[in-house]
Amino acid sequence: MKIIIGSDHAGFPMKEKVKAFLQDRGLVVEDAGTISKESVDYTDFGKKVASKVSDNTFERGVLICGTGLGMSMVANRFKGVRAALANDLFSAIMSRRHNDSNILVMGGRLIGDTLALQLVETWLETPFDGGRHQERLAKMDIE
Ligand code: RB5
Repeated sequence: MKIIIGSDHAGFPMKEKVKAFLQDRGLVVEDAGTISKESVDYTDFGKKVASKVSDNTFERGVLICGTGLGMSMVANRFKGVRAALANDLFSAIMSRRHNDSNILVMGGRLIGDTLALQLVETWLETPFDGGRHQERLAKMDIE
């Protein structure tokens, strides 16, 4: 699986940990930035990741900002993107099982790195349930 990851300054340290974790597991990871703790706009990096999930260049993405709120708001403006803000395991699991989330969003100022890595691993391993949930996804887009 090819995965794209991005953050703002508030999510930068966690992004580096998540990137190394994914690479250690043999995944191809594209880093969309940011590249330091210098202040940047989360919108720029949210767009970089979400646009490449929206156009199917990448199957999955991970976004991290301070709270996860801004990144999820930006990402969900892109057609076909189902970005899930999940700072707990139940949300991460259910976002896959019921919502087929294709971007995981986390708050770098809200959770620790250990939980973040658990969330990423669980989110990647949990399949979509399909069935009635597929029909509901089909109703998400507003033409
Ligand atoms: C940056 O200070 C902060 O606003 C950003 O990381 C994020 O939490 C926005 O939603």
